[in-house]
Amino acid sequence: MKKLIFGFVVGLSLPFIMGYIFLISGGMPVATKGSPLPLERFVARTAIHAAMKDEEDKPSPISADDVNLLAGAKVYNNHCAVCHGTFKGEPTFIAMGLFPKPPQLLDPDDAVNDDPAGEAFWKIKNGIRLTGMPGFDGHLTETEMWQVSQLLVNADKLPEPVLQALTLKTQ
Ligand code: HEC
Repeated sequence: MKKLIFGFVVGLSLPFIMGYIFLISGGMPVATKGSPLPLERFVARTAIHAAMKDEEDKPSPISADDVNLLAGAKVYNNHCAVCHGTFKGEPTFIAMGLFPKPPQLLDPDDAVNDDPAGEAFWKIKNGIRLTGMPGFDGHLTETEMWQVSQLLVNADKLPEPVLQALTLKTQ
């Protein structure tokens, strides 16, 4: 019986010991170049999804009218474009050097623009740990964060003046 318990304990500990050896032997990639480990993307996505469950349906307290979208474009140019790109612009060196890569949020070919406003708002407010995505809580007002969320949700149908404001930013 004792042997059985001993075997059980060793069996349970083995994955942790192997994982620890993997870490201290330098097996874990820490540079930003390279692709994610097999489970890395799955774990990150699942964790974000779980944290986001109640946020997605949060209705936006502001509408997507031209005034709010223009204000959102201003916030975007000042605080987001360096990582998430300008309208029709090339990704910056900063964006290219990050891991994970920041999605180019104004690129019509990038299929990431379909987050509900509540989800975008949560990510902008709280950031995403260990990714380079900053949390803006306490630095942007709630209204500014909703304005830039609306900008992203409506990225595929922005009025001309807003597109112009987003194109002007130099890199
Ligand atoms: C220093 C770089 C950086 C800045 C500045 C930055 N972000 Fe991000 N952002 C990231 C990265 C990296 C990710 C990807 C995180 C991931 O893969 O989970 C991200 C993810 C996001 C996402 C989620 C996209 C998705 O498909 O899930 C949203 C929305 C977002 N950022 C909005 C913004 C807004 C709005 C601003 C400006 C107010 C901003 N970000 C500023 C780096 C940045």
